[in-house]
Amino acid sequence: MNNKDKPPTSNNQPVIRKLIPRTSEALAAIGLGTYSVFDSPVLQNKDGSMGQTLKIFVEQGGQIIDSSPMYGNAENVVGDLLQKLNLTKKIFYATKVWTRGIESGRRQISQSFKYFRTNTIDLFQIHNLLDWKTHLPTIEKLKDEGAIRYVGITHYHEGSYPELEKLIKTKLFDFVQLNYSILEREAANTVLPTAQFEGVGVIANRPFASGSSLFQMVKDKPVPEWATTIGCQEWAQLFLKYVISHPAVTVAIPATGNPVHMSQNMAAGTGSLLSDDEQKEFEKYFDHITAKK
Ligand SMILES: NC(=O)c1ccc[n+]([C@@H]2O[C@H](COP(=O)([O-])OP(=O)(O)OC[C@H]3O[C@@H](n4cnc5c(N)ncnc54)[C@H](OP(=O)(O)O)[C@@H]3O)[C@@H](O)[C@H]2O)c1
Repeated sequence: MNNKDKPPTSNNQPVIRKLIPRTSEALAAIGLGTYSVFDSPVLQNKDGSMGQTLKIFVEQGGQIIDSSPMYGNAENVVGDLLQKLNLTKKIFYATKVWTRGIESGRRQISQSFKYFRTNTIDLFQIHNLLDWKTHLPTIEKLKDEGAIRYVGITHYHEGSYPELEKLIKTKLFDFVQLNYSILEREAANTVLPTAQFEGVGVIANRPFASGSSLFQMVKDKPVPEWATTIGCQEWAQLFLKYVISHPAVTVAIPATGNPVHMSQNMAAGTGSLLSDDEQKEFEKYFDHITAKK
């Protein structure tokens, strides 16, 4: 991509891209999660905000969209809107298999291609490691056939981090997805260094620790002065910048169906990353302002 083709960003800063380990392919460091916000009962929401959100995401250089059959109608809604908006070519599609049994897994995987309206899914993950040994051969076969490009595993619970680390070391997987945020830092001591050492990409989910309670904790508290000078005017932007600044993290996938939030989130994926010292300073500041008195 030359400069002319680069999508404009809201603040004219370059999009931060991170390499997928062991490849020469780079991804914009802010992606989009679809849990609950894209689980709509209709295939076109009334006020058009979901389509608008997707448009802003792509216009500002976003690539990876993460979904799962666990998220109700989300794959179908996203697939429908991307097709209607003619945005399919720009997307790095990521989804998951979340069921038990080989036949049920095959059916679910094949349904994801139909819902996304695509012949290629960039990343197929095994959701919460559910029956992973059963699903891996199905996914690997599709990878050999070129229908899937990368294979991943996910989990949301710290208790499963030792297993994630064990599986990362097998080299069977290209990506691991897990919780990582200023409020959920445990992965930084365990899975993240292992993934970095072994050359496995990291997708940081729940970068806002699911949202409302994290934002509530900093309500009425100022974003630190030094952060505003590097483009983090909003708390959301500093939370995201913190996550993508970890050297092991390839991409963070905040969920939003709100176009204004989407723009804020994309802006966090531009400019520069936090230095090691800035990450530590933010941890200290956050712990201080949120400490229970
Ligand atoms: N085991 C797994 O594989 C697993 C587990 C958990 C999550 N995930 C994936 O990770 C994604 C992200 O996790 P999540 O959805 O649980 O939580 P999250 O991204 O940490 O938080 C989402 C919440 O933050 C709000 N938000 C987004 N941008 C904002 C902004 N700029 N300002 C204020 N609020 C903002 C959203 O509300 P608005 O819509 O109002 O913006 C939404 O309520 C999921 O959607 C899913 O794709 C995977």
